[in-house]
Amino acid sequence: MAASSASIPPVPFRFTTKVGLGTWHYGERGSERRAEIAALLGALEAGYKLIDTAEMYAAGRAESLLGEALRAFGAGKRAQLQIVSKVLPSNGSADGTVRACEQSLKRLGCDYLDLYLLHWEGGHAFEVTLEGMLRLHQQGKIRAWGVSNFDQRALTRWALAEKRAGVPGRCATNQIYYSLLARGAEFDLLAAMQEQKMPLMAYTPLGSGSLASEPRLRALAAARGLSAAQLALSWCLRQPDCVVIPKSSNLVRIRENLKAAGISLDQDCLKAIDAIYPPPRSRQALAML
Ligand SMILES: NC(=O)c1ccc[n+]([C@@H]2O[C@H](COP(=O)([O-])OP(=O)(O)OC[C@H]3O[C@@H](n4cnc5c(N)ncnc54)[C@H](OP(=O)(O)O)[C@@H]3O)[C@@H](O)[C@H]2O)c1
Repeated sequence: MAASSASIPPVPFRFTTKVGLGTWHYGERGSERRAEIAALLGALEAGYKLIDTAEMYAAGRAESLLGEALRAFGAGKRAQLQIVSKVLPSNGSADGTVRACEQSLKRLGCDYLDLYLLHWEGGHAFEVTLEGMLRLHQQGKIRAWGVSNFDQRALTRWALAEKRAGVPGRCATNQIYYSLLARGAEFDLLAAMQEQKMPLMAYTPLGSGSLASEPRLRALAAARGLSAAQLALSWCLRQPDCVVIPKSSNLVRIRENLKAAGISLDQDCLKAIDAIYPPPRSRQALAML
């Protein structure tokens, strides 16, 4: 392997916040450009510290919009933020990973990413993608790497690749679909991640928005002075070492979602939720969008 592991810091990556902002579907409509930059800037000003994006989203335009918002927010405040992006599996060769990250950095106008994820498993061997991640880390272009949409088997194989590369246990997160509509990971994957002290990054925590208008959730939430979206997010956050990354381009909802970080649900509420969305009783294939 070309890159050495000498510069890998001993302290694993940690999220500094519980609620981040997702950016999938940002940048898809040119007519929304100004409004979307304003929403991203509004999120940063409202106190979001974690932003999730990817080279895939609107073919790089989500990253470009975020770059504009970051510039308006002020370069001096970059260090307060954790910015996560993802490499497409088709770009997951060692050179491809480095190139894709450099392109993402250019669009974002940033010198580094806090976390860089392999978006899902593709045709490249994990060893070669990891080599790209190591090179980026050594060059200071990423602070940490991780994976997304990995089931237990894929995580085990990635861990083996890290061990062979002399950087065991450095995978900083597994970003997966986890919500009331997708509880399968509770059967075994989440326990395996917790054993490795690997934080969970829960994507699509609002079920693409559908949970926010679910009548039974709305009733449970209203009885506690919450919105259904806040209930759905704080339900995810009952998991240890978990962050959620709801997407919104509406500033009212952006602020509403952020408040979920401070909410903990009572046992009666959790039981009522289980009755509507039961936990898994058997192993299930990992849900993916
Ligand atoms: N790694 C992966 O493969 C993967 C896959 C999917 C998603 N992700 C990441 O996870 C993020 C979140 O997932 P997602 O975008 O699929 O779905 P989501 O966050 O579950 O739902 C987003 C939808 O919910 C609406 N919404 C947000 N807050 C709301 C609220 N308080 N009340 C009512 N509606 C609300 C949004 O509409 P408005 O914008 O109009 O508010 C949007 O339509 C993505 O943006 C992306 O960053 C990663």
